Amino acid sequence: MMVNNSIFYKEAEKFISLGASFGWHERNAGNISLLLNDSETGSVKENFSNSGEWCALPYPVCPIGGRYIFTTASGSYFTDIDANCYSICEIDSKGENFRVVWGSDRPTSELNGHLMSLSALTERSDGFRAVYHCHPADLIALTYILDNDDKTFSELLWKSVTECAFVFPNGLGVVGFEVPGSIGLAEATAEKMRYRDAVVWSFHGLFSAGISVKDAFGRAHAIAKAAEIRLKIISSGAAQKNSITDRQLLLTAEAFGCELRGLEK
Ligand code: 13P
Ligand code: ZN
Repeated sequence: MMVNNSIFYKEAEKFISLGASFGWHERNAGNISLLLNDSETGSVKENFSNSGEWCALPYPVCPIGGRYIFTTASGSYFTDIDANCYSICEIDSKGENFRVVWGSDRPTSELNGHLMSLSALTERSDGFRAVYHCHPADLIALTYILDNDDKTFSELLWKSVTECAFVFPNGLGVVGFEVPGSIGLAEATAEKMRYRDAVVWSFHGLFSAGISVKDAFGRAHAIAKAAEIRLKIISSGAAQKNSITDRQLLLTAEAFGCELRGLEK
């Protein structure tokens, strides 16, 4: 099967266009990655080329050694996505090198962050294997006015929309300023991805995880909406008379069979 006829390709295309229509992808902003499973890899492997050069990774990603990652290409405009905007990378068996086997030879500049996060996600039990990165304005604005820590962002956004409690029960990680595409950003993000559902990058954007691109996108959508509401509350200048309480958050989580990380009973 041609890669652009695969379900994972079509799903990425759909949510990239949707994110672009939400204004989250100015210029080349944003990137995605999906750790392909054996059946997805098998369905498109006939298109792979082994002539690409192996490139050393700055950190080994042993848990995803021997696996293939579908990702967007660096510099892609999500407002104008086409078949040249993707790559598939192979990780060698030791998790020390990667090479492009299909598509653009320039995978996203955040590749290290994606690979290290996908690697961290394999250690979890929820089956997360996709990462979606976008630049939602309201969430970025909040990083200028709230304390940039996990507790502040997780609690304030859980308390912005009732259903957030089960959309990201493991809460949000927050990583302070780091240079885009840097190892520092990749490392700090992957550390949070060991236990958080999404990571906020101060002054930059959001790195959201999920079982699929659709799931990671949906989580980003819920977080961006909660950020929009929180920013509206703050910007209104009005005193906040009502709030979702800790007790109500716990009741909601309990009803949906999840536990809030950082707000345990
Ligand atoms: P790429 O175009 O290299 O994926 O970079 C976009 C981006 O948002 C970097 O954080
Ligand atoms: Zn970015």
